[in-house]
Amino acid sequence: MRSPRLVIVVLSILQLFQCTKEVGAAGPANLILYAHESRVPPTQTLIGSAAPNGNLTDEQFGLIKTVSNVLRAGKNNDSMVVGSQVGIVVLGKDVLNIYISYTYFLNNDSGFGGSTIAVHGHIDATSMGNRVFAVVGGTGQFLSVTGQDTSPFDAYVIDDSHTVNTHTLELRYPSY
Ligand SMILES: *[C@@H]1O[C@H](CO)[C@@H](O)[C@H](O)[C@H]1NC(C)=O
Ligand SMILES: *[C@@H]1O[C@H](CO)[C@@H](O)[C@H](O)[C@H]1NC(C)=O
Ligand SMILES: *[C@@H]1O[C@H](CO)[C@@H](O)[C@H](O)[C@H]1NC(C)=O
Repeated sequence: MRSPRLVIVVLSILQLFQCTKEVGAAGPANLILYAHESRVPPTQTLIGSAAPNGNLTDEQFGLIKTVSNVLRAGKNNDSMVVGSQVGIVVLGKDVLNIYISYTYFLNNDSGFGGSTIAVHGHIDATSMGNRVFAVVGGTGQFLSVTGQDTSPFDAYVIDDSHTVNTHTLELRYPSY
């Protein structure tokens, strides 16, 4: 008859193996993303999409903007497309109190094909300092990631209609 202790050891090894497999995500500790944005028609990547009084150009409490920025490998507008930054910007009560929520989708050219990173955060529009947002999760190579996403107030300006926001992500992965 098999000893109970041996069975327990075998089960433990199996459990360990399963856990190791599940961790799977061992993405980078740091990642810099360049979000290319345009606010000028017809190439906008940030537009008003809902407003309490229907006037989408009126910067007022309750206005929701939809973001669909292009992630490129660098600041130049001809650098390789590595994904997208899709989400929403919501203007709070005093308009300078802004909520943001977006997901980075990384394409195959990024080296993280099909993986995503989800970000939630707040912008104090009266502050010219760094914006720091919470990284709240991810998929693929960023499975269960947390951390923070820091973006300076000053965007890199390509021309009057195109700017680039640099996002520096510090990422932590669960150890289970
Ligand atoms: C919409 O809001 C903008 C900015 O406040 C204003 O200039 C414009 O006149 C408004 N349009 C209408 C139709 O109310
Ligand atoms: C990205 O790579 C995956 C896995 O190789 C492949 O299935 C998918 O079709 C690729 N996507 C694109 C848009 O090329
Ligand atoms: C990049 O920006 C320059 C300067 O504004 C512009 O002339 C050029 O058409 C842009 N290229 C692309 C691919 O958008």
